[in-house]
Amino acid sequence: MAILLYNGDFGTDAWSEALQQQLPDETIYCYPQVPNREDVEFAAVWNLPQGELATYPNLRAILLLGAGGDFLMRETRLPNVPIVRLVDDAVIGDMTQYCLYWVAHYYRNFHEYARQQLEGVWKRIEYPPIDEYRVGILGLGNIGTEIGRALSCTGYQVSAWVQSHREVDQVKLYKGVEEFAPFMAQLDVLINVLPLTSNTHGFLNSERLGLLGTHAKVINISRGAVIDERALKSLLDAGKLGGAVLDVFASEPLPSDHWAWAHPLVQVTPHSSGQTYPRSAVNSLVDNILRIRAGEEPYPLFDPTRGY
Ligand code: GLV
Repeated sequence: MAILLYNGDFGTDAWSEALQQQLPDETIYCYPQVPNREDVEFAAVWNLPQGELATYPNLRAILLLGAGGDFLMRETRLPNVPIVRLVDDAVIGDMTQYCLYWVAHYYRNFHEYARQQLEGVWKRIEYPPIDEYRVGILGLGNIGTEIGRALSCTGYQVSAWVQSHREVDQVKLYKGVEEFAPFMAQLDVLINVLPLTSNTHGFLNSERLGLLGTHAKVINISRGAVIDERALKSLLDAGKLGGAVLDVFASEPLPSDHWAWAHPLVQVTPHSSGQTYPRSAVNSLVDNILRIRAGEEPYPLFDPTRGY
C-alpha cells in the first residue's frame, strides 16, 4: 500500500523526506507520479486537482496537509472516508506572529510614518494606551483563539464575534446576529480567520464591512473569497475604511492587474501568514495513519458538510 502526497504549489520533497524518516517501510507516491491507483491507502494532500480523490478505490482516509480544507468543497463526489485536519502549533504560531506584527504596525502608525518619510516629514503621531486599542477576531477556531490570546497578552483590548456559546480568557465575546453590528462598530482592527464555506463566501460584503469605522483596518489571513474584494476597494476608495492587509485572495497567485497591488491603503502578502513545517506537522499525519491502522478514530476530523 502507499501514501499519496500532494501540496499544491508548495511541493512535496520536505513532506516526503519527513514522512519516510518516520515510516521507513512505507511507499510514498508524490502526485502526479502514481504508478498504481489501487495502492493508495492514504491521501495526504492539499489543493489536489478536482475529481482526483474519487479515483483511488482503496483509500482509507484523506489527511489534509494545510489548515483549510475548502478545496474539498469543489468536489462533486468525495470518497466516503474520514477527512482529518492538520493541526500544527508551528503554523498557528507563525500566523499569530503575522497578526501581532500588523496590529502593531497600525497601532503605532508605522503606515503613516512610511508616508511621512516619502515627504520628509518629521512628526510624532499620538496613539492611545494599548488597552484602548480594539482588535476583533472573526473566526474563533484554534487559530483565531490563539491569535486572540496573544493579542490580549500583549495588552490590546480583544473581542471576537461568535455564533455559538464559547468562553475564551481575556477575549470579550459578541454573540449572534444581533451583536454583529456593535462588534464591528467598536473596532480599530478586524482580523478575519473565518474558514471559507458556503456560509462564509462573500460574508464580508459592502454592508457588513461598512459597519466598521472609517479609521478601521482589515487583516485577512483565511481565504480571499470570504471578503467581497470589490466592496472592500469601494470602501477604501471612498474613505470609509482605513486600510487592509491582504494575505489571501479569491484568485491566487494574485493576477498582475489586480487593483490591490497598487492601492495606497493596501498591503499585499503572498498567502504567507504562516508556513507549515513538514518536520513538525508530519507527527500528526503519522499519528493518524497509525490510529486508523489500529482501528481507532483519527483526530481532529474535518466535517465536509460544515466546511471546517
Ligand atoms: C493555507 O492556507 C492552509 O490552508 O494551510
